[in-house]
Amino acid sequence: MKLVVVGGGSTYTPELVDGFARLRDTLPVGELVLVDPAADRLEPVGGLARRIFARQGHPGVVTTTGDLEAAVDGADAVLLQLRVGGQAARQQDETWPLECGCVGQETTGAGGLAKALRTVPVVLDIAERVRAANPEAWIIDFTNPVGIVTRALLQAGHKAVGLCNVAIGLQRKFAALLGAAPADVHLEHVGLNHLTWELGVRLGGRDGTDVLPRLLAEHGDAVAGDLGLPRGLLDRLGVVPSYYLRYFYAHDEVVDELRGKPSRAAEVAAMERELLEMYRDPALDEKPALLARRGGAYYSEAAVDLTASLLGGRGGATQVVNVRNAGALPFLPDDAVVEVQAEVDADGARPLPVRELDPLYAGLIAHVTAYEELALEAALRGGRDRVFRALLAHPLVGQYAYADTLTDRLIAHNREHLAWA
Ligand code: G6P
Ligand code: MN
Repeated sequence: MKLVVVGGGSTYTPELVDGFARLRDTLPVGELVLVDPAADRLEPVGGLARRIFARQGHPGVVTTTGDLEAAVDGADAVLLQLRVGGQAARQQDETWPLECGCVGQETTGAGGLAKALRTVPVVLDIAERVRAANPEAWIIDFTNPVGIVTRALLQAGHKAVGLCNVAIGLQRKFAALLGAAPADVHLEHVGLNHLTWELGVRLGGRDGTDVLPRLLAEHGDAVAGDLGLPRGLLDRLGVVPSYYLRYFYAHDEVVDELRGKPSRAAEVAAMERELLEMYRDPALDEKPALLARRGGAYYSEAAVDLTASLLGGRGGATQVVNVRNAGALPFLPDDAVVEVQAEVDADGARPLPVRELDPLYAGLIAHVTAYEELALEAALRGGRDRVFRALLAHPLVGQYAYADTLTDRLIAHNREHLAWA
């Protein structure tokens, strides 16, 4: 089996490689190709990846290249984990929206729109080249904003599934709190990427008992603490929002906090310098503990499961992924991309039925879906007016004066990445 990681020079890659090495019975990788235009990162990351495989006695070969065409030739699956403009662009996304009193975040609000505009054309170009080399290859998208990028890929007819680690992270967290095995914890996870709620937590599989009320009663403080939301709010909702809902439910509080501290991009950039230094050490042959301070925990396990299912290795598996709605949330267009439990096999991912949603969640989901559709329009066709329409539609922007100012700033800060600007 040949797997390709685009953005393979990312400091996240050893996390992924560690997962491939540990879970080789689920996913027998014969060749792992790391592709990246940044040779200075690819070389230390590739070196460590080879040492991780060697230490764990993995028979697979790790190769590195800057040549996408050569890399994807004969690939079974291609994982996308790139970041157009790097942490420098992320730093911008997290900063200029704050000047208007709006959250500065790389996937939510105006910063998320900027990232979508930079990213969608690049990902579509890569996907075309993957398809030209091998029309059967699966594309697994971890590149943010995952909902919009996956919608772009599906709309262009690609064999793609979007992946995020929020659900698997909560599954692992809840399993630990409940003293259960992660595989026994089935989440009723519903919404859009980075806009989800756990409506139920079923023990022992899809039809198991819903222990969410017990989880909140016994561990509500721990769960709320992780999300940065008050325990009382979770008790009133009776569901567990993802931590990205904090940008909505506590927007102004978050803006105040963000204004008073260095950006996450700056923190991550410092960590990345340190990580790359460690990766250069020929004695290091496992993923360093520092990597756990990045947000991508369990990404590798989710990616291994998904790849194995798509390549036909795990019959009847279900997993939370980003997939075409196709009626799962009946109040959304069929071609919206939702993040829900899905049945995944060699034919792709199909959403499982979802219980009827409280308007409290359905309303916000519908609102953000409309924004995502307009954001994709802006990313595909460009133009100031399309950017403005997406921002006016975003529930965290909404007012024309903010939308106008943010549009100007977005374009000014991203000109080098926007072909039309
Ligand atoms: C979580 C999200 C990812 C996001 C990451 C950021 O894992 O699911 O979509 O990229 O956090 O982590 P970072 O360490 O870069 O802040
Ligand atoms: Mn994510």
